[in-house]
Amino acid sequence: MTTSTETQQPAAKSMDDIVALCRRRGFIFQSSEIYGGINGFWDYGPLGALLKKNLKDAWWQDVVQQELAGPDGRPVDIVGLDSTIIMNPKVWEASGHVAGFNDPMVDCRETKSRYRADQVMVATPAGGDGAMYAFPEGDPDSIAKKLKKARVDLDTCEIRPLTDIAVDDFTRIIGPDATEAGTLTEPRQFNLMFETHIGAVRHEDAKAYLRPETAQGIFANFWNVVDTSRVRVPFGIAQLGKAFRNEVTPRNFTFRSREFEQMEIEFFIRPDAAEQWYAFWRDTRYAWWQSVGLAGDNLQLREHDKDELAHYAKEGAGTSDIEYRFPFTAPGFGELEGVSHRADYDLKAHATHCGKGDKLQYFDQERNERYFPHVIEPSAGADRGTLALLCEAYTPDDSRASKVYMKFTPRMAPIKAAVFPLVNKDGMPEIAEKLYRQLRKRWMIQYDAKQSIGKRYARMDEAGTPYCFTIDGDTAGDQAVTVRERDTQSQERVALDQVEKYLAERVGG
Ligand code: GAP
Repeated sequence: MTTSTETQQPAAKSMDDIVALCRRRGFIFQSSEIYGGINGFWDYGPLGALLKKNLKDAWWQDVVQQELAGPDGRPVDIVGLDSTIIMNPKVWEASGHVAGFNDPMVDCRETKSRYRADQVMVATPAGGDGAMYAFPEGDPDSIAKKLKKARVDLDTCEIRPLTDIAVDDFTRIIGPDATEAGTLTEPRQFNLMFETHIGAVRHEDAKAYLRPETAQGIFANFWNVVDTSRVRVPFGIAQLGKAFRNEVTPRNFTFRSREFEQMEIEFFIRPDAAEQWYAFWRDTRYAWWQSVGLAGDNLQLREHDKDELAHYAKEGAGTSDIEYRFPFTAPGFGELEGVSHRADYDLKAHATHCGKGDKLQYFDQERNERYFPHVIEPSAGADRGTLALLCEAYTPDDSRASKVYMKFTPRMAPIKAAVFPLVNKDGMPEIAEKLYRQLRKRWMIQYDAKQSIGKRYARMDEAGTPYCFTIDGDTAGDQAVTVRERDTQSQERVALDQVEKYLAERVGG
């Protein structure tokens, strides 16, 4: 996980509590839970599916549908795409994924656990050639017991990544979950792409891959889109969809999953315009994450150092990450979206591999010249984004029956409002049901008539519903309802025929 520690303000929320609420309220479940689950795969329950959909819809609306003004003051032109998960395997040869999409992996012979070597740290006590203690990156507490037993003070240890340690010294290392030294294997490269076979025969020639990123579907379709859509450089292609990576150590809830969704834009530009478009996308995307509710100190924009850059970005305009301080990364941050200048690496690679070479150069009519456009790529994760929304919204509050409420922005809230009859008699359910049916034509609305009004508020607080409308004994007479606002818990009276307008002004849509 990329973590950085530029500011030292820990997020005081417990990840265990957030995971428990997600399970209890139906935001996120372990995939195949009734069979004991499957590591690295997650399902979204009724509330989670709505939350994630709201995030993806907002991305599509704000990227593809709505007009943005570019750095040149002209409208930014972006079109959508929906390409397949399984593509011709040559795509992944051209992109470099077959040869290079690897993580270094170590196994523990004692516990049969598997770790990503670059995510294991090793504590070496000062002086001497005794045992060395391995632990997962970002979790030094996990070796506290072992060190205590061995009477070693962590503060006196030198901490280094496992990948910096000579293989000869592996005999001294006690693995993260092991009791004996020398059980970790030498790191070896592990390709993260999931393989499958096409057709009835499981033959090497029939081998194909589940896409590890949506981006290559965009690059492979660049020429189709140019030929059919009247787009001209600068323009972008946006795609949202599943990606699959056989992560060595999936962890931190949905943060590192084996199946996840990406929201990617490949924005094609003239090579000499890279700096201005890179800065534009970096700032636009950072502002977007703020707009969906990650507006506080837990969001940061981090420009990469030159030595961190991917091979295609080395000489480019730059790469930055938009990062969120999750409870499990605090005080560090974890990546939500990367914005990078990929130069002309991918288009050139596909042109070369398909055998057409420079014939596939783009013809710029305005300049009367041919070139491979450069690319600025804002590449975001929908699952990490959803997880950040959940972590940010989670607000402990002892004054409430639920002890916690989810402070989603109205645009992200899975359910925009709830409608309650105070009691199930005296004509209240009839009025409440009518209002419910009216509102649900426009928004996700929940009707709840069960248990006390306090318990119903508590349920809506945990779901993050911004407004609750209650039809009470006075409604039939004064034609008004009580609306309760989630964050302040304040209540006011609103005319029954003004409820829809009231809600539209506050949640949009
Ligand atoms: N096309 C560029 C690309 O795929 P990436 O940094 O590997 O870049 C982009 O992935 C985004 O996809 C990340 O910022 C993250 O939000 C999401 N992502 C990557 N691997 C993930 C995983 N194993 N689980 C969940 N999200 C992941």
